[in-house]
Amino acid sequence: MQNARLYPIWILRLRNMATILVLHGPNLNLLGSRESLHYGFQTLSEIDAKLQALASELGHTLSTLQSNHEGILIDRLQLCLTDNTDFILLNPAAYTHTSIALRDALLAIGKPFVEVHISNIHKRESFRAHSYFSDIAEGTITGLGAEGYLLALRYAHSYLLSNNHDIIGANAPLWT
Ligand code: DQA
Repeated sequence: MQNARLYPIWILRLRNMATILVLHGPNLNLLGSRESLHYGFQTLSEIDAKLQALASELGHTLSTLQSNHEGILIDRLQLCLTDNTDFILLNPAAYTHTSIALRDALLAIGKPFVEVHISNIHKRESFRAHSYFSDIAEGTITGLGAEGYLLALRYAHSYLLSNNHDIIGANAPLWT
């Protein structure tokens, strides 16, 4: 490698390293009061606050959106074509098992994403075992409770680092 130059970690920490989007599907606005046996007691705002805290600790910008409407989720995904989103954490909720349209949106934008489920979709009704997203996701986290979102964010961080993504200027490599 010609003129190899490694940027020290403090330079990496001085700037936002990546833009991460968290998308929550239908009924997740009811977390905290909804079927606590499956979803626990944390509210969506508590989960989002923990994600924000971890993202800023890791040096990233993170935005979150929950919607009960498929079209709104699709519109937000399409926005990723122009808004510099680098990585997506997605809990499609019930759309996991039904939405070819959301799947197509993810394929169209081509951004890496992790599929997150609070409950273990394989331990529940058989219709929940099929996901329209698992085969196109970087990976799926299911059944680890709200902690799964934080684990997914940590994965996004190492994925982006190992892909030298958007660090030190747009798409610039770690080594020059
Ligand atoms: C869920 C699992 C889905 O089957 C369900 O429809 C949800 C939430 C989860 O996070 O465990 O709404 O995605």
